[in-house]
Amino acid sequence: MNLAILLRTTGVGAICAFAQASPALAQNSTTETIVETMRTLSGKQSTRPSGAKGQCFAARFTPTAEARQLSKSPAFSGERDAVVRFSVGSGNAKVSDGTKTVNRGMALRIDPNGPGQSEFVMVNAPVNFVKSPDQMLAFLQARLPGADGKPDAAKIKAFTDANPETTNQGRFLAGRPVPASWVGVSYWAIHPYTLTNAQGATQIVKFKLSPKGGEVGLNDEDAKGKPADFLVDELKARLAEKRPAGFDVMAILGSAGDAAIPATQTWPDEETRRSVKLAELTVTGLAENDICDREIFDPTRLAEGVAGPTDDPLFAERAPAYAISITQRN
Ligand code: HEM
Repeated sequence: MNLAILLRTTGVGAICAFAQASPALAQNSTTETIVETMRTLSGKQSTRPSGAKGQCFAARFTPTAEARQLSKSPAFSGERDAVVRFSVGSGNAKVSDGTKTVNRGMALRIDPNGPGQSEFVMVNAPVNFVKSPDQMLAFLQARLPGADGKPDAAKIKAFTDANPETTNQGRFLAGRPVPASWVGVSYWAIHPYTLTNAQGATQIVKFKLSPKGGEVGLNDEDAKGKPADFLVDELKARLAEKRPAGFDVMAILGSAGDAAIPATQTWPDEETRRSVKLAELTVTGLAENDICDREIFDPTRLAEGVAGPTDDPLFAERAPAYAISITQRN
């Protein structure tokens, strides 16, 4: 039986016991167990177990001359089409857009089906909530409901006490206003990427997308008063009124030492680092959701000249997890 089906039919607890009995399988099944646990926590619904609520948009990607000096990627050799899926975090497709405690997400595909096809799956925080797949699995498992159908607060606290860095992302979000627009907040790709130019010179960078019209936020009170689905209407209105609906795609410059910093931490002085504008990304209109839903946004699908980290299990885990997830949603 396929392990994913086994997980579905026996439940996560059973598969954990099963995986412990077989070290080789335990290693191979971590990804499947993570996705299955995400699905369990989000009620086994048929949408994504993370960023479940979202909308697809069409966009244009306009690179700068500086981008071409840093990277030989065909994505930077001229203006390109792009596809963007904005989302609201969590596996709840009905989550209110005014919710403060969850991420806003942005999945980006530059130059679909072209030589520069490159994909980034980003959130509105510079850090992730876990630094490794094992920590992610433990984070999720600590939140599984017990026999009474409720999560065990003591278990969650024990996990948090032992893994304090898993609160960094939540603290970042809690310290900011609720995004008033999907294009009114910054997004980070979080992982360190390596740019390689035509001469073979390399540069470690972190991608940050800064909103062209500036950050726009709501205080907690105003956020609560907003309609549950205001983000899509806000962006449609912006597009109709030709107000700014785009981002500067920035590369925050780093060094080899920075690349070893876990995803739960920012780089030292990250906010004041020198950064280079690589492109402008302009949202141009609503797109059919099927364009964003029929295949995964794969963070490892990158045209040559841009590479993700080669030694980070968290980055390596993402594409396989998304590939499993898409087989379980419609
Ligand atoms: C820095 C790390 C990560 C970030 C920023 C991130 C962000 C996101 C975002 C924004 C989405 C929504 C994608 C969309 O709109 O299509 C998503 C989906 C998802 N994420 Fe992640 N993620 C990260 C790491 C991981 C890891 C390590 C796993 C599992 C091992 C994971 C599992 C998933 C799954 C299963 C989905 C649903 C994918 C689908 O059905 O298409 N993520 N993630």
